[in-house]
Amino acid sequence: MKITYYGHSCFLIEAGGKRLLTDPFISGNPLASAFKASDIRCDYVLQSHGHADHIYDLETVLQNNPEAIVVGIWEIHDRYSQKGYKTHPMNIGGSWQFDFGKVKMVAAVHSSSFPDGSYAGQAAGFVIDTPDGVLYFAGDTALTRDMELIPMTCPALDAAILPIGSNFTMDYKEALIASDFIRCNRIIGCHFDTFGFIVIDHEAAVNTFAESGKELTLIPIGQHIEI
Ligand code: NI
Ligand code: MN
Repeated sequence: MKITYYGHSCFLIEAGGKRLLTDPFISGNPLASAFKASDIRCDYVLQSHGHADHIYDLETVLQNNPEAIVVGIWEIHDRYSQKGYKTHPMNIGGSWQFDFGKVKMVAAVHSSSFPDGSYAGQAAGFVIDTPDGVLYFAGDTALTRDMELIPMTCPALDAAILPIGSNFTMDYKEALIASDFIRCNRIIGCHFDTFGFIVIDHEAAVNTFAESGKELTLIPIGQHIEI
């Protein structure tokens, strides 16, 4: 499984022979100014919730990838299918077998609305179970005991993408607790540094994990890792 970072919560996951993009937000992110949303090629977009810092470039991506399917909660499906895009509706707790692997939509503790203020359903995360590895993408969320359900209901995780920037989500110290809840020692950070509210001390964050024998990876924007 190859994971490329486009900043904030936007990752391109190559697994199961497909390209899965999460939460497209590139043109509004000054840290990702070297990249263009219109250049990204993907087969699916996993959309965690409707906030602008996650959905801002969704239509640009879909217009440049007319076969791509948006996977999101019912209200996101409803809005984007009415606009003529391909969608797959899910809701919290449900799973679906796609051609690249099985996706389970899991709980997140966070609000959700579209940029125009209309209702976007609940915020969610995804557990992505592919032949190339199992990944949890948490979306925006607080630390929540619901995460303990993931190891009870899903295959063992190879890695997890967790928000670490605080203010809008949990911080990196709580992400360390989350890594215990989900029984995963390989954590990839997201939702940090993009705005002044979520700037973090990278060294302190990485050391906090290392002191517990765990690994926090902060992928430089535009670079990738293999898990
Ligand atoms: Ni949000
Ligand atoms: Mn956010």
